[in-house]
Amino acid sequence: MKALILVGGYGTRLRPLTLSVPKPLIHFCNKSIVEHQISALVKAGVDHVILAVAYQPQAMMEALGELERKFRIRISCSREEEPLGTAGPIRLAKDLLTDDQDDSDDPFFVCNSDVICDFPLPEMLAFHRERRAEGTILITKVDDPSKFGVVVSDELGKIKEFVEKPKDFVGDQINAGLYILNKSVISRIALRPTSIEKEVFPSMAAEGVLFGFQLDGYWADIGQPKDFLRGTELFLASLSKGSSKDDDFKLAVGDGILGHVLIHPSSKIGNGCLIGPNVTIGSDCVIGDGVRISDSAIMDGVKVESNSYINGSIVGWQSSISRWVGLKLVKGANCCPLGSARRLDCRW
Ligand code: GDD
Ligand code: MG
Repeated sequence: MKALILVGGYGTRLRPLTLSVPKPLIHFCNKSIVEHQISALVKAGVDHVILAVAYQPQAMMEALGELERKFRIRISCSREEEPLGTAGPIRLAKDLLTDDQDDSDDPFFVCNSDVICDFPLPEMLAFHRERRAEGTILITKVDDPSKFGVVVSDELGKIKEFVEKPKDFVGDQINAGLYILNKSVISRIALRPTSIEKEVFPSMAAEGVLFGFQLDGYWADIGQPKDFLRGTELFLASLSKGSSKDDDFKLAVGDGILGHVLIHPSSKIGNGCLIGPNVTIGSDCVIGDGVRISDSAIMDGVKVESNSYINGSIVGWQSSISRWVGLKLVKGANCCPLGSARRLDCRW
C-alpha cells in the first residue's frame, strides 16, 4: 500500500526550529515527527511513502534515506513548483500513487505532517473496506473546533457535512488530518492549488461516499510550540499505559524523576536533579547537578549547567545553557535558541 504525507510549507509556527530543519524532521519525543508517522504506516502495510514537499526537498531526502533502510520501504519525493494546497499534491503525485508495479485497487493513506496520535490505521482500513467508502477521515473530538475541519456524521459514520474552520458552531468532531482514499478520488482533484477540505470533502460528503472513523485515544496537531508540548504530555501519558513496544520509548524511573519522563540512554543526568513531569531529553545531552526541568522538550546535544531551571520550553538541539539560568513559560511556550554556537547565559 502507499501513503502520501503532506509535508507542505515552511512551518513558520515552529520557528526558529524550522529555519534550519524541515518540520517533519523535528524530533518529537526523541524521534522525528515523520518517523512516528512512517512507523505507524508501515505497521498498517504501507511499503511506499510519498512525501509531498514544497520546501527544502534535499534536506528531507537525505534524512529519509536512513528511514528507507530502517523500515525497508520506498520513500519518494513529489516536489511542487508552487504550493498546491492540501489536495493539489495528491493530483500531482498521481503517477506515483498509481504506478505500474501496483495494479491493485488498494486505497492509499494521506496524512498531514503535523499530527500525532495512536494511529489506529489497521482498524481504520478495516472500517473503510467494510463501509465500502470512497474516503474515510479519522475524526476526533476537541473543545475548540473552530480551528479545524468539522465533521457531522450519522451513527454509521457516514459524513453528512464537512465544514473547514467554521465561524458558527457546527459540531465538535473534527478532521484529525489522516485519510484513507480510493484511487478514484485522485480524478476529483484539479492540478492547481486546491484545498481537500474546502473543495473535495464537501462534495464527497454530499454524495454520501465519505465516512468518519472515530479516534479513541489521544490526538494533537503539534504544528505550534504550545500544542507541541501538549502533544508531548499526551504521548508520554500514552506510553505510561504501555501501548508502545518500542525500546526507544521506555519511560524513566527512579530518584529525581517526577511523572512521565523520556530520557535518551546516551544522555547524562547530574546529581540532585528533579526532572518531570512531561519532559523529553534527546540524545547526547549533559544535564548538570541540581537542575530542575518540567513540561519541556530538550532536543539532542543540549548542555544544561548546574542549578538551572527550565519549564514550559522547547530547547533546540546543541544549545548550551549556563548555570543558574531560569527558562520559564511566561505566555504560550518558548522556542529557545538553537544551533551549536548558541549559549544562553542570563543569570537569575
Ligand atoms: N505539499 C503541500 N503543499 N503540503 C501542504 C500545503 C501545500 O501547498 N499546504 C499545507 N500543506 C500541509 C501542511 O504542511 C500540513 O501537513 C497539512 O498540509 C495541513 O495544513 P495545515 O496548515 O497544518 O492546516 P491546519 O492545521 O490549519 O488544518 C488542517 O489540519 C487540521 C488537523 O490538524 C485541516 O486538514 C483541518 O481540516 C484539520 O482539522
Ligand atoms: Mg496543522
